Amino acid sequence: MTEDLFTTRLDSTSNSIFTEDCRTGLVARSLPRFKLCVTSPPYLNSFDYTDIYRPELFLGKFVDDKSSLKALRHKTVRSHVQVNWKRATTSDFGASYSRTMVRIHAASEHLWDTRIPLMIQAYFEDIRDVLAGLRSCAGRKAHIWLVVATSAYAGVEVPVDTIIGEIGLKNGWLLKEIGLLRELRSSGQHWNRTNGKGRKCPRLRESIVIFEKN
Ligand SMILES: C[S@@+](CC[C@H](N)C(=O)[O-])C[C@H]1O[C@@H](n2cnc3c(N)ncnc32)[C@H](O)[C@@H]1O
Repeated sequence: MTEDLFTTRLDSTSNSIFTEDCRTGLVARSLPRFKLCVTSPPYLNSFDYTDIYRPELFLGKFVDDKSSLKALRHKTVRSHVQVNWKRATTSDFGASYSRTMVRIHAASEHLWDTRIPLMIQAYFEDIRDVLAGLRSCAGRKAHIWLVVATSAYAGVEVPVDTIIGEIGLKNGWLLKEIGLLRELRSSGQHWNRTNGKGRKCPRLRESIVIFEKN
């Protein structure tokens, strides 16, 4: 990193960094039209980044006290159950989503938290808002490269990549490709803790979803 700091010049005036909520900030800022968006949203794996990066948030002075940490936590993509979120109000996220939710509800007695079905719904509602926001500031033939991983709850695989593919299609994006980046192995301990003991762990994957502006 030290070498990069000296060899890669970052003093160009064309670089800008904004700290915004990705669901609303894109539209609010009326950014110039983009050609390529490379992004990796939170995965649907119940990680609360404001918890994981708590020391960095305080050290970097992004938050000063408990209440500002709480306020930031409430702005995170709804990919975890550590917050009592506002409930999602939509669920038209395509056939793959609907099939998965039927299976999740059927296995609900094995979920480690009863709020997981609501979290999954809210997660895809947030991703829908991000894709719709990006659509509104995309240039002609703009692309999105979105890296994401699949998840599993109560032994049911949630094919996050294909569900996002369908959501993009419904929001003005052409689905160009869903490519496998790597297969993920869930550690036994994590699997048992988060998905209920004794349930079989489906093989998960990390994928890249590529969209082009339709
Ligand atoms: C899978 S990580 C990607 C990290 C990034 N690619 C990197 O290399 O640092 C997802 C990131 O999304 C951030 N995040 C969560 N909710 C967000 C929101 N509403 N708006 C913008 N970023 C958010 C998390 O803090 C986390 O850093």
